[in-house]
Amino acid sequence: MAQDNPLPALGPPAYARWRASTIGEITERIERGVILDLIGEVGGRRVLDVGCGDGALAVDLLRRGAEVTGIDVSSAMIEAAKRRAAGLRGDIAFEIADARKLPFPDASFDVVTAITILCFIEDAQPVFREIARVLRPGGRLVIGELGKWSSWAAARRIRAWLGSPLWRAARFRTPGELRALASMAGLQTEIVRGAVYYPRCGFAARILTPWDRTFGRFTSIGAAFLALAAVKPAGAP
Ligand SMILES: C[S@@+](CC[C@H](N)C(=O)[O-])C[C@H]1O[C@@H](n2cnc3c(N)ncnc32)[C@H](O)[C@@H]1O
Repeated sequence: MAQDNPLPALGPPAYARWRASTIGEITERIERGVILDLIGEVGGRRVLDVGCGDGALAVDLLRRGAEVTGIDVSSAMIEAAKRRAAGLRGDIAFEIADARKLPFPDASFDVVTAITILCFIEDAQPVFREIARVLRPGGRLVIGELGKWSSWAAARRIRAWLGSPLWRAARFRTPGELRALASMAGLQTEIVRGAVYYPRCGFAARILTPWDRTFGRFTSIGAAFLALAAVKPAGAP
């Protein structure tokens, strides 16, 4: 069901401002790097980006040769995604849809991505079930989520207590919770990786970025961003 924007504080203009800021540009680059690493080679693959927002990842995937579909429940986001993709070589199928009821047949995609959408969905189980259904056996899920044990999550919880409707509605999950959600949907987790260990400050981000990957190799504690890669077993229905 289309909604103008279920997260008004996170509409296309807010995204554009975030990416234009130092902290936003650095953080997006780090998060995108981790996600693309976990997705791997996408040339010729059918990729679905669930909660595609304004289409930044979808466009990146198209440029890497994927056949891309993006869905989002917000009509404002889908309009922004279409504008971003206009004039590119190749088409992206952007559609308004709810992640809890994906309008695609079973086993339609080789790869599904869902980046910072589950944090705004109280019960993520139906979304995982739908993703598992539309993935082909042997297909891959890559999700990006907001980590629970980070200074970013702590600051956002304080904003929630101070009345922010956006952060009141948000959920911060642990690697264990993400693994459990994947497992309940019949997906096998390969890896959960942490990223964005610096506090939310452009100066700290610039100084600490070179060590972000190193931290990510040792622990996900302190990571503002968690990325999980899971596969649908080859014999799964
Ligand atoms: C934080 S934004 C992330 C957008 C994009 N994935 C990115 O990383 O730039 C979350 C997105 O999830 C979308 N969303 C929230 N609930 C949804 C649902 N039930 N079905 C589909 N999209 C949803 C919102 O409209 C928003 O565009």
